[in-house]
Amino acid sequence: MHFELKHTDPHSKARAGLVHTDHGTIETPIFMPVGTQGTVKGVHQQELRDDVQAQIILGNTFHLYLRPGLDVIEGAGGLHQFIGWERPILTDSGGYQVYSLATSRKITEEGVRFQSHHDGSYHFFSPERAIDIQRSIGADIIMAFDECTPYPCDYNYAKRSMHMTHRWLKRCITQMDSTEPKYGFSQALFPIVQGSVYPDLRKESAEFIASQNAEGNAIGGLSVGEPDEDLYSMTDLVCSILPADKPRYLMGVGTPVNILESIAMGVDMFDCVMPSRNARHGMLFTSEGTINIKNQKWKMDFSPLDVNGTAYVDQVYSKAYLHHLIKAKENLAIQIATIHNLAFYLALVKEARARILDGTFRKWKDEQVKILGRRI
Ligand code: GUN
Repeated sequence: MHFELKHTDPHSKARAGLVHTDHGTIETPIFMPVGTQGTVKGVHQQELRDDVQAQIILGNTFHLYLRPGLDVIEGAGGLHQFIGWERPILTDSGGYQVYSLATSRKITEEGVRFQSHHDGSYHFFSPERAIDIQRSIGADIIMAFDECTPYPCDYNYAKRSMHMTHRWLKRCITQMDSTEPKYGFSQALFPIVQGSVYPDLRKESAEFIASQNAEGNAIGGLSVGEPDEDLYSMTDLVCSILPADKPRYLMGVGTPVNILESIAMGVDMFDCVMPSRNARHGMLFTSEGTINIKNQKWKMDFSPLDVNGTAYVDQVYSKAYLHHLIKAKENLAIQIATIHNLAFYLALVKEARARILDGTFRKWKDEQVKILGRRI
């Protein structure tokens, strides 16, 4: 993998770049739809490619390891083959899901012992194991095994945890260096900056991560309930320290406004369950603001889902029709809403990129933040 920085905006810290992988090139800034279980829920790969225009998707080590299991994924020849997706994939290491999803867990220096939320069986993830599993899954970009601290988090806990994440990173790097990709495609390891909402810890973590000279770097431990003010100040601080010639990935963020503000600080990659998860509850992100399609006010609104929307579903279906489908609990409602929201996110980062390249990003971003923050 390698990153080509194409342009930095003179009026903000936004960047336009290209991430080259063995499964194709990703234009940054980019949003990565979340496909936890080897599927972006409710969306065919063809729709993901042609309607959503996803360039890279996310998979989760934790889920895929528990089900279907590595024997199945290896038997298929890796995750790309198994799910029929030829473009790049990134897998999270399990260093987040293990804390949020496992029935019980015990963290030690060696790793994390946890119980499956499916059948109560016991499992153990260590930095080495997280790398081995991600080798078996075969994603193009894989993540270091870390501890994502909750919010709020006591200073001393955050400090101890951050140092352990740094030691775990060293073990991940050693494991990467002593193993090979299984399917002939190269894999890049991204380390993760932690440090909760404490500027001195974030600075120390970003400096440590930067010194490892990885192919790309991630910012973790945010979007866990902290105020936006902390999200932005930590992101800005960390971006000012991480190397400019490597992609920066802000994990688990966020709303359209969060994404635009973070792009302006120099973030290149994002993932979040919000567009897909909220779609399933009838929340649509549109070019005019956020709407809840279940609301009675849309019952007789025959205007397109999103007048400015670029996806097929935006022009073909009306708000009234989607309102009806979701009220009737029809599967198609979820499919339409998910495709719409993901296409909206992808179109947003695509426009941000075009604006960075033509020098109009800052002004456009400030206008969009006002519009997209509205609930209508
Ligand atoms: N997803 C969102 N935040 C995080 C984080 O801090 N660590 C990992 N591994 N995944 C995340």
